Formats: sequence, C-alpha cells, structure tokens
Amino acid sequence: MECTYQVIVVGIGPGSPDYLLPIASRTITTARVLVGSKRALDTFASAEQLTKIIDRDISGVLDFIEQQVHCQDVVVMVSGDPGFYSMLAALRRRFVAEKLRVIPGISSVQLAFARLAEVWQDAALISMHGRKAADEVLSYRPGYKLGLLTDTQHTPANIAGILLELGWPETACVWLCTNLSYDDEEIVATTLAKAKLTPGFEHSVMVVKA
Ligand SMILES: C[S@@+](CC[C@H](N)C(=O)[O-])C[C@H]1O[C@@H](n2cnc3c(N)ncnc32)[C@H](O)[C@@H]1O
Repeated sequence: MECTYQVIVVGIGPGSPDYLLPIASRTITTARVLVGSKRALDTFASAEQLTKIIDRDISGVLDFIEQQVHCQDVVVMVSGDPGFYSMLAALRRRFVAEKLRVIPGISSVQLAFARLAEVWQDAALISMHGRKAADEVLSYRPGYKLGLLTDTQHTPANIAGILLELGWPETACVWLCTNLSYDDEEIVATTLAKAKLTPGFEHSVMVVKA
C-alpha cells in the first residue's frame, strides 16, 4: 500500500508566538513527531511528542525524518518562512514535492521592513547567513535597496566594509534589526560608515538604502 504520510514544513515566523499563524500553531500542537532547532523545541514541544533537534548533522536529521514518515506525519519547524533560506531546500533534495506540505510563516525580512514602514517589493533580498553573495548583487547602483540576513562571520560590520568597497556611499542609510518580535528586539538606524565600526548584531536583518 502506498504511504500517505507527509513531511509538514511549518514556518514559525521570527520567534514570538504572536507572529505564528493559527494553522502553524495547530499543526505543531497536534504533531506526534516534531523536528526543529533546540530553541524552537524548547518553546513549542510537549512531553508526549517524539522530537529531534536540527543540528549540524543535517543528513542525520533527514534520515530520521525519512524513517519516521514511513508510519506517521513528521512536522518540521523552521524559522521565518520556509521558502526563504530554510531547511526546505535540503528536504526538497531528499523528498518529492508531493511528500511535502509547506505552511508559510512571516519572514524576519518581512518583519524588518514592516518595522521600518518600508516596502520590500523593490529590495534585493540576500542571505549572507552561512554563505557569500556575488559582488554583482551587492554592488552599488542608485536607488538600490538591500535586505540582508547576517551571521557571526558575515556580521553587519563585515558586510558594511564589503559594500563600501563595492561603491556604496558612506552616508547610505542602514538599519540593524535584531531579535525581531522578541521582548529584547532592537533596531538601530545608522550609516554605512558607522555600521562598519559597529560590533554585534550577528543574527540580524540589515537593511541598506542609498
Ligand atoms: C537560516 S536564516 C533563516 C531565515 C528565515 N527562513 C526567515 O524567513 O526569516 C537565519 C537568519 O535569519 C535572520 N533572523 C531570523 N530570525 C530573526 C529575528 N527574530 N530577528 C532578526 N533576524 C532574524 C538572521 O539573519 C539569521 O541569521
């Protein structure tokens, strides 16, 4: 008999349950098998659920999901929206599309632009979380706007240095948005020249506008 169980990939938004869709919340609460980061499992998992932490061993996590989905649905929580730099890409390499059901979430980038009352339809959305970006996408052009995901290597200071080398003016506007949706959310408005000298804000959304 054909197996009808699915891998349900749920976007949990930027972090606070206030930004979790009701359908995502229901799916997580009723899951028998729940996969997610330690932080997400600490927040959402209950004692009776079988859980698996997403760690560096992604292929081990995929193996676990593949074993479990033979006999029951598996719910995988990812931060923000699954379609924007999440484990969905790895899941698509392991499973056919029909095996996956995706529940969208609010991306950290969406929330950052919302906080600034800025539209993002004209912005280039780029991740430098665990990856580089090509000079062509980062290079300055008049009226260009960037929404960037940062990490401990590609910090806002590091990225500001790269952008200055690629022709962006020192006076370009920069917003560093961290812990979005949480009680300790912080948004700092600055310039590119000052951002180059600003430590911290490792896991942030960095918005840059010429
Ligand atoms: C692996 S990416 C996940 C992106 C996610 N799929 C999304 O749509 O937001 C992780 C990066 O997202 C950003 N991020 C996620 N949650 C955030 C939050 N609450 N506040 C600020 N940035 C956040 C940070 O740049 C972090 O390094």
